[in-house]
Amino acid sequence: MNEPDFAVSAANLTKTFTLEWTRKRLLALDGLDLRVRRGEVFGLLGPNGSGKSTTLKLLLGLIRPTTGQARVFGQEAGSLASRRRLGFLPENPYFPGFLSGREVLNYYGKLVDLHGQRLRARVEELLELVSLQPAAGRALKTYSKGMLQRVGLAQALLHDPDLLLLDEPTAGVDPVGSRQIRDLILALKKRGKTIIFSSHLLEQVQEVADRVIILHRGKKIQEGTLDELLSVQGQRQVTVSGLTPELQEQLVAWLQNAGAELIAVTQPKQQLEDYFIRAVSK
Ligand SMILES: Nc1ncnc2c1ncn2[C@@H]1O[C@H](COP(=O)(O)OP(=O)(O)O)[C@@H](O)[C@H]1O
Ligand SMILES: [Mg+2]
Repeated sequence: MNEPDFAVSAANLTKTFTLEWTRKRLLALDGLDLRVRRGEVFGLLGPNGSGKSTTLKLLLGLIRPTTGQARVFGQEAGSLASRRRLGFLPENPYFPGFLSGREVLNYYGKLVDLHGQRLRARVEELLELVSLQPAAGRALKTYSKGMLQRVGLAQALLHDPDLLLLDEPTAGVDPVGSRQIRDLILALKKRGKTIIFSSHLLEQVQEVADRVIILHRGKKIQEGTLDELLSVQGQRQVTVSGLTPELQEQLVAWLQNAGAELIAVTQPKQQLEDYFIRAVSK
């Protein structure tokens, strides 16, 4: 199994945990088949406990599958060669609160073997990418949740990985902050990165993911592009302005005469989140 076209390919990936006290077996991931193409933004969706973090940890090699296997750019998950090309934002990244954003990135940069001028340049480049330069000298304990997630993203990018694994990158982040994170995901896609992220906040996935899977109790229950999953087959929506009550009546009569079935006449609404962001950015 060597598929360089795929950033990630996994076959029959299964993970059972044995619970410590009761020795009961818990099936956290059940026979997952997964293929993520290079350059794709891929969403792992599902409620809490459905196996999203387990999937990401298996791809990282932080835990070993009970059966099945996963490959990252053709290399076995967990191997050094696969890890070199991976960046990871954990669900709740922990950084010492007394360090500044710049200090944390310098520290992690050294861990991935950056030094001197190269390290300094890379840290500034990433601070700019995640829009944290103005706050880079402040202690992390003064950062918002959204800012901390962006520090975590910058950390994951230090060694310029090809694949990013982001575990709930927008959980607990306010609307403006999570908008910034989603814009960043799109910017990284433009730079050719492959991004796999998990979310239980379904409405936030819509604008960024090319394809998604939905997990439920460790099983894949859906897979596809959002268009495939969300478009209502056999119906069309027409949006018009200047429709007077008389015109509407005529239009409805005309449609019915022509054999079309009218399902709804509704007023288009903006998403509450867009409305909120427009209101606060004024
Ligand atoms: N180390 C572990 N030991 C025992 N059970 C675990 C462990 N990690 C995860 N689980 C269980 O596996 C299931 C899937 O968990 P997880 O992948 O974290 O879900 P999600 O990220 O979708 O919320 C849950 O029932 C969780 O309690
Ligand atoms: Mg999780």
